[in-house]
Amino acid sequence: MKKVTLKDKTFGLSLPESEILKAIDTIAVDMNRDLEGKDPLFLVVLNGAYMFASDLMKRVEVLGEVSFVKVSSYQGTESTGETTELIGLNEEIAGRTVVIVEDIVDSGLTMSKLVKSLHDKGAGEVKVATLFFKPESLKHELHLDYVALRIPNDFIVGYGLDYDGYGRNLRDIYTLIP
Ligand code: IMP
Ligand code: MG
Repeated sequence: MKKVTLKDKTFGLSLPESEILKAIDTIAVDMNRDLEGKDPLFLVVLNGAYMFASDLMKRVEVLGEVSFVKVSSYQGTESTGETTELIGLNEEIAGRTVVIVEDIVDSGLTMSKLVKSLHDKGAGEVKVATLFFKPESLKHELHLDYVALRIPNDFIVGYGLDYDGYGRNLRDIYTLIP
């Protein structure tokens, strides 16, 4: 198995880029169908979703705005239970369809807070597209509209996801070796 060491931890290759892209193809078909005629705002959650957003947006043919927010709830490999908005939203969202583009839903805290804040700001409809979902980890009530890949409750890096800032530029997914 191909391995990579980031700081003090070692990770083993678990999912090649080709599998990720196949899964993205599938949700893009659903999004093209559902979003037709809607003038969506795609809201990419930095930093983790940058690579996913790039590949997803090239496959979504519905024209819309693409913008970015930055929220943070993770330190190292543990969720802190608090989220902080580091880069906010500047677009007018009243009455609009907002599609959040996220790398991974783990406890669901980050996503449930973001969905609520968009509803509070008057969004007409909020949809969530996530590359990864860890169903066994979910602790917050949340509806996910587009899930590319369901994975076990293990810590992963690569394809935008990091361990303490490292691993984001790996093109495949690696899982922490305990
Ligand atoms: P949640 O609020 O617990 O759902 O955590 C969501 C955020 O934590 C994601 O947007 C990621 O940035 C980060 N995260 C959760 N699981 C992982 C993982 O396995 N690897 C890297 N980052 C993760
Ligand atoms: Mg994230």
